[in-house]
Amino acid sequence: MSYNLLKGKRGIIFGALDENSIAWKTAETVHAEGGKFVLTNAPIAMRMGNIKDLAEKTGSEIIPADATSVEDLENLVEKSVEILGGKIDFVLHSIGMSVNVRKGNHYTDMNYDFTTKGWDVSAVSFHKVMQVLYKKDAMNEWGSIVALSYMAAQRVFPDYNDMADNKAYLESIARSFGYFFGKDKKVRVNTISQSPTPTTAGQGVKGFGGFIAFAEKTSPLGNATAQECANYTVSLFSDLTRKVTLQNLYHDGGFSNMGVSQEVMEAFDRNEEEK
Ligand code: NAI
Repeated sequence: MSYNLLKGKRGIIFGALDENSIAWKTAETVHAEGGKFVLTNAPIAMRMGNIKDLAEKTGSEIIPADATSVEDLENLVEKSVEILGGKIDFVLHSIGMSVNVRKGNHYTDMNYDFTTKGWDVSAVSFHKVMQVLYKKDAMNEWGSIVALSYMAAQRVFPDYNDMADNKAYLESIARSFGYFFGKDKKVRVNTISQSPTPTTAGQGVKGFGGFIAFAEKTSPLGNATAQECANYTVSLFSDLTRKVTLQNLYHDGGFSNMGVSQEVMEAFDRNEEEK
């Protein structure tokens, strides 16, 4: 179902790697809602994924950019304004990567070069994106910028490793930059704290199967899917949410406010009885 919520709006979407990516579903949904956009990803991801199919399907151009390179981001923003024919109304930052997670380093045994790379890609890149947009005055008034986060920023999930710290950093940047973007340019900045979702980045987390099942059984509405996250993001890009800013918005079927659910208790009760 489409409501034309983004008719006439222009944007940049970071992070569509394959059909499972949250950014991929968002691009499809934004397209269905009448928005135009440029797709971007790290040059290396172009070889791994199939972003070209998405570009074709949505009538979009692709501009490669490593989100940690200010030079790449400047080129991306300049070209996007040119291609789309005006300033930007919406931006999705859907980027995350921890080298410690990839290499299987435990949280208590980090390689700090990997840690630095991880926070640069996962958190500081969001500052870089916003600083380039801000300095180039490339956002339209009442524009909307969204990044994706996870609840390990607030609570302990041992296997989330240093991504927990990266997400806390990301959420803080959203608030801090969001203040200046709001004051100076009337642009809103928010993070969406999404349920565990089976994507390339998600499945990289150790024990992801148990993780996602536990969240599903705990949340009264069940886990939010990538498509549902795309729908929520569209609402934040639309004119219906103009005064929502500096927020970390939980999109998790209620998980973040739960203690324990009946299903999880029953699983434990059964275990106890079997002993
Ligand atoms: P994904 O693996 O499809 O997307 C991650 C993207 O980051 C990829 O497209 C990758 O190429 C891009 N990327 C990595 N390094 C980059 C760089 N240097 N420059 C530009 N792009 C770069 O996975 P997913 O799950 O769609 O991830 C999107 C966002 O959602 C991430 O921020 C992730 O942490 C967040 N998130 C994911 C959850 C999950 O369970 N999958 C839960 C909550 C948040």
